[in-house]
Amino acid sequence: MSEQKPMIAVLRGETRATPPMWLMRQAGRYLPEYRALRAQAKSFLDFCYTPATAAEVTLQPIRRFHFDAAILFSDILVVPDAMGQPVSFESGAGPKLEALETPEAIDRLGPFELEKLSPVLETIDRVKGGLPADVAFIGFCGAPWTVASYMIAGQGTPDQAPARLFAFRHPAAFERLIERLVDASVKYLIAQIDAGVEVVQIFDSWAGVLPPGEFARWSAGPIARMIAAVKAQRPQVPVIAFVRGADAQLPFLTRSLGADAYGIDTALDPAWAVAQTTQTTVLQGNLDPIALVAGGDALDREVDRICAAFAGRPHIFNLGHGVLQQTPVEHVERLVARVRSEGRA
Ligand code: CP3
Repeated sequence: MSEQKPMIAVLRGETRATPPMWLMRQAGRYLPEYRALRAQAKSFLDFCYTPATAAEVTLQPIRRFHFDAAILFSDILVVPDAMGQPVSFESGAGPKLEALETPEAIDRLGPFELEKLSPVLETIDRVKGGLPADVAFIGFCGAPWTVASYMIAGQGTPDQAPARLFAFRHPAAFERLIERLVDASVKYLIAQIDAGVEVVQIFDSWAGVLPPGEFARWSAGPIARMIAAVKAQRPQVPVIAFVRGADAQLPFLTRSLGADAYGIDTALDPAWAVAQTTQTTVLQGNLDPIALVAGGDALDREVDRICAAFAGRPHIFNLGHGVLQQTPVEHVERLVARVRSEGRA
């Protein structure tokens, strides 16, 4: 039964004295066992599309830290890859795509080919059998705005200005791209659920660069439509929305997106988030990944502050963004012990 999993219980609204915990980017380069497997792969995407290794790296952080959830090892940019916009990752330089610079380039994109992502679905099938009974399994995709911002720029940029400019100049074409991403992402999430994930998270990593009208139109609106479509088809599956940089929009998001839980980023004061949302809102977050790099007393202090702020509310402990590569493994051990220790302040 799913209720034996603390993560699922909290997503259903239960409050736990010890919050369930997992970390965004918990599988990755800070783990020596990840680096060892990654070094053998031809490319990062090849690594994602090889079910045996993708399943293994999904399970690595669970074995080491017994987190309350495993997150599928893949990437948000497999969706453009499956739309005929090939993606590559150059070491140290992040993702590279052939930039979509004109409305015509958007209309030339191919159909979303879910079959191309069948290795990801096979990874899910393999992980399912290897998870401890109390560990939940999270699938994910990027939100349309964030994925579109990479498709337009062809890379990550400091403020995703190319996509913001494109959206102001060509709103009708941008809308077509966003709608295609909504459709593709919903199909992809449903396929992940049918393959065996129990929770899905939608990552809108670049929401924070948009002014309010654009935020409503390109970030919040499409995420709400995606969640409604997933809920219409698989109503039992909890959805987590991580709208990074949304700040003061959190109360609006919790009223309008229809998610089961909301991820909050590092910059948001948890006490404010708790005060500005209803008692039943499930919140996930929000330790600064840099505090995890620092370790020691600073880490303990931040963990205690966050746990105290969320006490009495359904809370999933996480970072405010992904684990950084330079994070010492012992600091993650210290974090896990601290969150799970009794008698915290
Ligand atoms: O452990 C997990 O969280 C699961 C796997 C996962 C990855 N990427 C693996 C990855 C998840 C959930 C993601 C999401 C993702 N990917 C996001 C949203 C979350 C966020 O961080 O804001 C975004 C924006 C991407 C796009 C992306 N993928 C970028 C910008 C980069 C390069 C930056 C970097 O850290 O290298 C990636 C590559 C990537 N995705 C790596 C991993 C482990 C590192 C590549 C490697 O191992 O060579």
